[in-house]
Amino acid sequence: MRKKFVAGNWKMNKTIAGSITLASELVRKIGSHEPPCTVAIAPTFIALDSVREVIKKSPIKLAAQNCHFEDDGAFTGEISASMLKAVGCEYVILGHSERRQYFGETNEIINKKVKKVLSEGLSVILCVGETLNERESGITEKVVEAQVRGALNGISESQMQHITIAYEPVWAIGTGKTATPEQAEAVHLFIRNLIGSLYSDSVAERLLIQYGGSVKGSNAKELFQMPNIDGALVGGASLKVDEFYQIIQSTI
Ligand code: PGA
Repeated sequence: MRKKFVAGNWKMNKTIAGSITLASELVRKIGSHEPPCTVAIAPTFIALDSVREVIKKSPIKLAAQNCHFEDDGAFTGEISASMLKAVGCEYVILGHSERRQYFGETNEIINKKVKKVLSEGLSVILCVGETLNERESGITEKVVEAQVRGALNGISESQMQHITIAYEPVWAIGTGKTATPEQAEAVHLFIRNLIGSLYSDSVAERLLIQYGGSVKGSNAKELFQMPNIDGALVGGASLKVDEFYQIIQSTI
């Protein structure tokens, strides 16, 4: 049985003070009970240190939203994986569609980032997903396959235990349009089979595949009931404690 994994991607939201408030509310809500799934939150870079303090005695794990693929040097405005490790991150979200779309990240760049993050001993949440145009052109699987193959190029079977894949159809992100559980399940199964063919059945069987795209308290349960949906990467709803908590509880 795969343990489900729910991660909150706060994107470019909240000041340090606002992040502390949100994280504190979540810690209070979860209380001392072990949540039914793995839970991580990804605040902005500047709030990571403060949020780490807030969640340190809770089961919530710290994640970052991006990083650079070099160790250090003249890369103005960038943050390295070793810096994220030093601040207490366990996960880094890579290849988010907003990074691909607005910041020109290619599968090749994402691959370099994946390698760097793994080399620091951190885990990766690798985002893949097709645009509406690509779905309507019938090339969803082709696009997702190229993204998975490209990002995981050179990643070994043993490194795969530190990879979670988040399937996030771009047309469902922040739009209120969720993929139906059946639409999502079809792509999740495709990804699992692809990983099986690239690695082995046991790697495929262990791989966590999150769904992302307008996940809310009200639609999480039906998504999580699908056999290949192992949790969610949550944007908007992760900024509301009650919604996010309901998503966490929906993994039971
Ligand atoms: P959303 O974002 O839940 O607001 O659609 C998901 C994501 O971008 O990870």
